[in-house]
Order: sequence, then structure tokens, then C-alpha cells
Amino acid sequence: MPLMDRRALFHRALLAGLGASLPAEALAAGLAAAAQPHWALALGDVEADISPRPLTRLHGRLPADLAGTLYRNGPALFRRGASAVNHWFDGDGLVRAFALRDGQARLAARFVDTPKRRIETAAGRIVQPGFATPARAGAQVASADDANAANTHVIAAGGRLLALWEAGSAFALDPATLATHGPVTLRPDLKAMPFLAHPKVEDSGRIWNIGLSGAAAYVYRLAANGRLEAGQLIRLPRASYCHDFTMTARHLIIVLQPWLHERASLPFASGMVWRPEQGTRVLVIDKDDLTRQRLFELPALFFFHLGDGWEEADGTIHFDGAFDGSPLFATETAPALVEGRYPRTERPLLRLISLHPDGRAQLRDAGITAEFPRHPGGYQGPRPTFHVGGYAPGRPFARSIGRWDWQAGHGTAHDFGAHQIVEEFVPAGRWLIGTSINLAARATELHVLAADHLADGPVASFRADVALPHSFHGSWVAA
Ligand SMILES: [Fe+2]
Repeated sequence: MPLMDRRALFHRALLAGLGASLPAEALAAGLAAAAQPHWALALGDVEADISPRPLTRLHGRLPADLAGTLYRNGPALFRRGASAVNHWFDGDGLVRAFALRDGQARLAARFVDTPKRRIETAAGRIVQPGFATPARAGAQVASADDANAANTHVIAAGGRLLALWEAGSAFALDPATLATHGPVTLRPDLKAMPFLAHPKVEDSGRIWNIGLSGAAAYVYRLAANGRLEAGQLIRLPRASYCHDFTMTARHLIIVLQPWLHERASLPFASGMVWRPEQGTRVLVIDKDDLTRQRLFELPALFFFHLGDGWEEADGTIHFDGAFDGSPLFATETAPALVEGRYPRTERPLLRLISLHPDGRAQLRDAGITAEFPRHPGGYQGPRPTFHVGGYAPGRPFARSIGRWDWQAGHGTAHDFGAHQIVEEFVPAGRWLIGTSINLAARATELHVLAADHLADGPVASFRADVALPHSFHGSWVAA
């Protein structure tokens, strides 16, 4: 199907969802009265932008070779008046900047100024559709970007920040002020097209990404300055939900899990069906010729996040990821979290997928729970996987940061304790930098650890005078 037809189909699907309003409007008022679990701070509402402010140093000293800014993004407004979104993934994106310089740390944060946020601010309630939130009376949806929460990741490219969602455009932001410039249109015919929140960046700065619509994927190749170098529509063997993809130095890898997009309906998640009997298929695509493809088969897996891939001399491809046995977290847990409930438990496991030249695909378990896998730069050879973990009964979020070595088959970790919710940590040279929510202090904290000595705990920790809700992903930008 031609690209423009795909776009028209995608936009029609969005508009069709306008009729599907739900009466779930009394949630926020109920929340105020109900006793909240201690972890509910992770889904609290931020009512306004966070003006620049210093962080208090708790202990340690910043390494002399660590200067720059940790940018992070995540949903931070879930409720307006008596209304609430239906899912953790549908809150408004708040981009946070933790700037480190001269031994000091500072914080500022601004909401991405999206059409969704403007419309809902004017309405005083949640009306726009999202991943799992239906359109309600008063919704205005002319394109995918009217549903775009810009709340999932933030990367730097071409002197700008890009706040990312997955079913619409990146939004460009000023890295100094966090002011929103607007949606990025890479080419006029690509306006408001899907653009995943997990682009992959080569050492050269070249950026690869995909956008998905049913069983079609648009493959983007961007220069380091963020300009489009090349784009191509490819057919996929099935219409899977893909939040992330991965790559090696030579290949793009799209993991097609059996959570299938069977109906063009809104909200998007309502059209997905879990078909474990159909297994997982892994599509490997030559970066130099996107028509050169191979397909591998694995048992049913569900995932949000994959680690970076690498290849051996004989062509064997390896990559890891955080894999569940079903989409239960997406369909039941994440919606309940907005209501302060944690009804079901399924923990993602760190697993390694190996794709052999003879067509065999293998799965290996690390034997640990893990999410948010991150790697040092480069797609050459095995590298450690940094991840969050330490999931405990009765709470939905991680409390430790870990490092796993697939070659040695073991890992190390630092446990921040039961009073901390640990968010994604990002490699920054010899260091690992990330944030947590200290539930006892009711404050967001920033920590720096030595990547080779995680178990020693932070070399420096800072605390903000505010508690920001749980963020998803971010990038370290060295000064
Ligand atoms: Fe993600």
C-alpha cells in the first residue's frame, strides 16, 4: 500500500475512535479520598513546569570528568478535574534537565507543549485519545499528533532535543530552556507519521528509527544533525506491537511479538490481541539494502525494551532484552497504576537472543528480573548490560541498579533500598547516571555510580526539593 494511503488509513483510524467515549470521569475525585500506596508518588501529577533550581548534595563528589546534562522524559500529568487517563503511558510528557557542572547539580523541567496538552488545558479535563485512553466528548483529532503525549524518551540531535512518542512526530525542544519548538516534519509527505521512541544511534552519530502502522514499517535514516538522509517503506510479515527495535553495526532487527494489531480502533491498545500460539518472529534487515531480509522463529515473548545488538565474525547476532510471558503489564497493570492499584504481578526477565547463520534462534536466561536495559556506546562485541531490577512483592517498581555480563554469566547490583523507586540509569563514559524517587523523603534524587563498581553504590547523590513522577527514558549529553 502506498505510503500516503497508509497515512490516510492511520488518520481515519484515529478519527473513528472519537465516537468511543467512556464515562470513567470520577476517578481523580475518588483518588483524593482513597488511601494511596506509598509508591503512588511515581504516578503523581505535576501541576506546572519546574523552574530551574539547585539540588542538595547528599554525599560524595561529582567526578571531575563528568560535566553535562541528563535529560529525561516521562508522563507527569494524569488527572485533570474529575477526569483521568486510563493508562500510565498516556500522561503528558515532562522533560527534565539535570545539569552537572563544577561539582553542582541543578534541575529544571518543562512539559512538552503538544496540541493534546493545549486542548486539555483549555477543556480542564482529559479528552484526547492515547495508547489506551479513549477519545472523550470534546476531543479534537485531525492527525496522530493531536494524540501525541511526547512522553517516552528524549534524545539530542542537531542542537535540538527531540521528545519522542511512538505513533506520531518527535517534538523539537530547546536544550537550554526546554521550550517546545513544535513537531518535527522530516519531509512534507512524512508529516505526523509514526516515529518510535527508541531511535538507535551509531558511533558516527547516524540515527536509525522505524515507524509502524499495521504490517508496514517506515525505516528512517537520519544524519547526526537530525536531517533525513533516507527513508523507505517496508512490509512486515505481521502487524505486531513494537515499542522498540534494535540493531548491530550491519543489521536492523525488528522483533515481531505475537501481540497483534488486529483491528484499526482507538484507543490503539484496544485493537491488540495476544496470540501466543503464533510465536515470536525476528526480522533481520541489511542496513545497506533493506530488501535483504532474514526471518527467525522463537516461542511467544512479550517485551517493551531491547538492548543493543552485536555480531560475531561468523555472522551470529546477539541482543538481549527484558521479556515477559504475556502483555499483562500493558493491559492490566499499567492501567491500574493510575488508580493506585497494583493487582497483578509479572516481572520482566533479562534474556539473550542469539540468531545463528544456519537459521536457528536461541534464547538464554540471565535468571534475573530486569527492565530498561542500556549499554555503553558502540555495536561491536559484547558489552555489559545495565538495567534496573530488585523488584519486590507488593510494589510495581524497581529498587536496584544492576550490571549483567553475558560472557561471564553473572552480574552485580546496588540495592537502593525499599524506600526508593529506581528509574533507568544511563551510561556516561566511565559513569552511570540516573534518578530515583525517595519515597521516605518524598523527593527525586540523582545518583552517579562507577560503571565498573556498581556494588559500591553512588559516588555522589543529590536531592531535589520536589518529587517528580517515574520517568521512562533519557540521554546524557556531555558538556
Ligand atoms: Fe520505552
